[in-house]
Amino acid sequence: MKTQHDQHARLDVHLTEGDADRTLRADVRAGLTADPKQLPPKWFYDARGSELFERITELPEYYPTRTEAALLARSVDEIAAASGADTLVELGSGSSSKTRLLLDAFGRAGTLRRYVPQDVSESALRLAMGALAAEYPDLALHGVVGDFTTHLDRLPRGDHRMVAFLGGTIGNLLPAERRAFLTQLRSVLQPGEHLLLGTGLVVDPEVLVPAYDDAAGVTAEFNRNVLHVLNRELGADFDVDAFDHRAVWDTEHEWIEMRLVAQRAMTVRVLDLTVEFAAGEQMCTEVSAKFRREGIGDMLAETGFEVTRTWADPDERFALTLAAAR
Ligand code: SAH
Ligand code: TRP
Repeated sequence: MKTQHDQHARLDVHLTEGDADRTLRADVRAGLTADPKQLPPKWFYDARGSELFERITELPEYYPTRTEAALLARSVDEIAAASGADTLVELGSGSSSKTRLLLDAFGRAGTLRRYVPQDVSESALRLAMGALAAEYPDLALHGVVGDFTTHLDRLPRGDHRMVAFLGGTIGNLLPAERRAFLTQLRSVLQPGEHLLLGTGLVVDPEVLVPAYDDAAGVTAEFNRNVLHVLNRELGADFDVDAFDHRAVWDTEHEWIEMRLVAQRAMTVRVLDLTVEFAAGEQMCTEVSAKFRREGIGDMLAETGFEVTRTWADPDERFALTLAAAR
């Protein structure tokens, strides 16, 4: 691990370029030789992918970010008081935009000493930390570049931490991965430490699908970005513009499935593989599961958490759940 320090900011890099390269190669080999083909979502987020995601959060169709921000605005003082945390850890923190609501509430409560943003995207993390260092001069910043599916045991300890996992990102994990993630998270927490979880709720597909397939085509560009990453990092020769974006609501699993659809038959060379795409072939690049309130409570109870309180917007599109490690 590499660590960099300046006056009040520290950055630990657990995901070195070498590690990232090895995992990317293994993921691509497994995903592109599978039937149906698939790619794991964490590779969307290079510098361009993180910027495109920020643009998604501002789209009129993408309601999750603003709905969650409104929920936070309503609940942060109560959350800060209930948790009493000295350290706020945030997984998949991205630009940390909504986190400012929490930091301000903890500022009013006076307990917080340190903010630990963690993300797989080093560029997004550095940008966020640069801005936060200027805005919150009294807060210690300790960034962690890492993967929340494998590196939870390397999070810094605190006297009392609250771990925020916002944006509905938990829905990007498959059910078995989600359970493994929560179980591992619980195992690195002390009883009484808190989790603040943001989850998309099951809503009408007429509202949901456009959030993942916007009229301006930003989400399509974001989805195709994973192919740019493969071309650049692995010297693959995907004709990126020959893939269409599709978002499909899966009623059985209650998740949105993001796919890339080959417009025509194509042969792609990547690593030592020759990968054939049939015309119209669909490759899954991400799921975004939506939840029901009971489901959230059950999932947390089964993995060792006790729900303190849940907030939802009047249209029941998004929920914020504060839970304590038992
Ligand atoms: N929390 C922010 C960003 C959500 S987008 C918000 O609510 O708006 C998902 C974020 O998780 C991105 O910043 C992405 O880089 C990060 N991410 C995706 N997979 C990850 C992984 N496996 N480990 C750590 N971070 C990951
Ligand atoms: N965590 C976000 C979500 O599930 C990620 C996301 C939003 C996303 N739009 C996307 C991922 C489009 C892939 C494609 O809402």
